[in-house]
Amino acid sequence: MINVTEPHLPDKVKYQAYVDRIYKAKRLTNNGPLVEELRQRLEKHLKVKNLLLVTNGTIAIQIALKLLGSKKVLTTPFSFVATASAPSWEGCDVEFSDINLSTFNIDPVEILKKVKANSEIDCVLPVHVFGNPCEISEIEKIQEIYGFNIIYDAAHAFDVIYREQSVLSYGDISTISFHATKLFHSVEGGALIIKDDELFKKAKALINFGYDGGEIISIGINAKMSEFHAAMGLCVLDDIDFIKSKREELFFEYKKKLSSKLSYQDFCIDGSNNFSYFPVVFSDPCILLKVIKALNEENIFPRRYFYPSLSDICYLNYGDFKNSEFLSERILCLPIYPSLELDQQNKIIKIVNDCLI
Ligand SMILES: Cc1ncc(COP(=O)(O)O)c(C=O)c1O
Repeated sequence: MINVTEPHLPDKVKYQAYVDRIYKAKRLTNNGPLVEELRQRLEKHLKVKNLLLVTNGTIAIQIALKLLGSKKVLTTPFSFVATASAPSWEGCDVEFSDINLSTFNIDPVEILKKVKANSEIDCVLPVHVFGNPCEISEIEKIQEIYGFNIIYDAAHAFDVIYREQSVLSYGDISTISFHATKLFHSVEGGALIIKDDELFKKAKALINFGYDGGEIISIGINAKMSEFHAAMGLCVLDDIDFIKSKREELFFEYKKKLSSKLSYQDFCIDGSNNFSYFPVVFSDPCILLKVIKALNEENIFPRRYFYPSLSDICYLNYGDFKNSEFLSERILCLPIYPSLELDQQNKIIKIVNDCLI
């Protein structure tokens, strides 16, 4: 069976050595030494400051919203459901703003229209879809005039650069997911990268029931990463160059051999690609369904990522967003992961191309 992705499993002996350290220290959680080691290594690797590890990328968004006191959130309808369910769960009003059909990201022109029309929007939550950096400088120009906060959902954007800096260093807060399916993972996990030092201090308490030292300073929740998850993160981080280069090879192989009838996401010229996904767009939804059927018959399972458009989900049904809905009907992510072999990839390419003749 070939799935859209397969988690990278690092060397077991190396992981075991970390587990031995955990057993020896008898410290399983509560900001233990491995969590701190991973936090510091990630800050160094990504060249960011104020990185806070948490249990997943969804709670990272929830904590970001809580920290900024957001009430009315403008986000994209073309994302994984967590982007919109996290603010809804936090009791925020959620509004959508349509995407650009080339970049698949929220369109700054649409953001401007929305914030002009609704002065209550206090937070804009764009997503760097499939690791493609948003039009950050355009969004920041609008922020300067209208004064909302920005939280970037950078769940897909590990190791992505925008204008010579980690894309995670933009926005008031960026959040990321370290779920097992991501480029870099800690089985489950996530992080916040927080611009303001005071807010970072507050966030540390917020993820630990509101405790700062021995004292409760605010309302809090439990979002602490465990030592076992940090151990996996430390092992995967050692392999990150290998993971990226294998994905890059597969990415360009697809591009070279797939039919010219497909179209692709336009990547930001000021940014880098981390090759975490391989999305293709079909001109006709019927052909997409034909391709899925043909692949499934061979035990190959691509993913309709993201489908449906979030604007079509029952509790988020806030209107029509034609670009998001158009793309959702036509997009498919093909398998891409380091252990995918060339003959497996060639088989996928042949099936897709045959359906397009
Ligand atoms: C865009 C986006 N945001 C948020 C999340 C949530 O991350 P997690 O699964 O770590 O909670 C995901 C997960 O895939 C995602 O794709």
